[in-house]
Amino acid sequence: MNQTQFIQQLPKVELHLHIEGSLEPEMMFALAQRNNIELPFATPEEVKAAYEFNNLQSFLDIYYQGANVLVHEQDFYDLTWAYLKRCQQDNVIHTEIFFDPQTHTSRGIAFATVIEGISRALQEGEKQLGITSRLIMCFLRHLDEQSAFETLEQALPYKEKIIAVGLDSSELGHPPEKFMRVFAKAREEGFLSVAHAGEEGPVSNIYDSLELLNVSRIDHGVRCSDDAVLVAELAEISMPLTVCPLSNTKLKVFEKMEQHNIVELLRQGVRVTINSDDPAYFGGYMTDNFMAVAQSHDVTLQEMAQFTQNAIEASFISNQEKQQLLAKLHAFVERSKQV
Ligand code: HPA
Ligand code: ZN
Repeated sequence: MNQTQFIQQLPKVELHLHIEGSLEPEMMFALAQRNNIELPFATPEEVKAAYEFNNLQSFLDIYYQGANVLVHEQDFYDLTWAYLKRCQQDNVIHTEIFFDPQTHTSRGIAFATVIEGISRALQEGEKQLGITSRLIMCFLRHLDEQSAFETLEQALPYKEKIIAVGLDSSELGHPPEKFMRVFAKAREEGFLSVAHAGEEGPVSNIYDSLELLNVSRIDHGVRCSDDAVLVAELAEISMPLTVCPLSNTKLKVFEKMEQHNIVELLRQGVRVTINSDDPAYFGGYMTDNFMAVAQSHDVTLQEMAQFTQNAIEASFISNQEKQQLLAKLHAFVERSKQV
């Protein structure tokens, strides 16, 4: 089996995917029409042409605008279902999905509309496609603490559908400490936590996410390489980093994929994983992200499989479920040696 076949067929686990970031331009147009919403673009091709970003904020502006076409429960269902069908193509066997309720509630869409549409599709995905999943609710860090508290309150009736809280949006100027109290409350309520940190922001955001927010994983975290002591500590405590290679080059965190530090971090013993972040905006789903890393770095098949192993170990499923996924992975690796 050559490297491309190995990567395509490798069982994958995704831990960093914003469901709103899986909105393909074609669906954006279809939903705009269905919901009578005007788009500032004439065709899906024009939308794609606008996806040239020079930093995180330039992406976020267009990403929030795109989300305006999501109105009804069925829209959230269709969005999630389309993503799960893409997962099936890429041999994604488990996925942990972010959603941003404030992007929708701030436009007058009910929290219930959002979560019911997404979770109905996730249930269907498990039934029809055999893809297991968890849901993570993110607070938008550019909004204030009060709004995050209100969002947490709205989530409480849906507690059993949400495994963790997270923190996304503009990292610069919105450090973890701003959300210390709301994360403490979320943990009291039984949620796990994760946070975007060290994507564009400084290493202090990684330290503070660990110390002040008590996160179980760091989303992105690639700036940790600025601090050798931190890298050693992340390895020591097996802290997972959900790295998103195509996102990082699209948003100019690294100029070129060859400069990306994911393979170096893997070899330094950090529990790094490969993820797609906002695949409709960054030019690729899971297989594309694995391929981008393999084509720009000298990596072995064993290292490729290690990314999946890391993701299984870092996931929010039970130990028994982890053992089942590890068995699937190991069976694939053994099979790949015979063909
Ligand atoms: N960073 C911060 N916020 C986000 C991202 C990201 O990569 N994607 C969607 N919201
Ligand atoms: Zn992200």
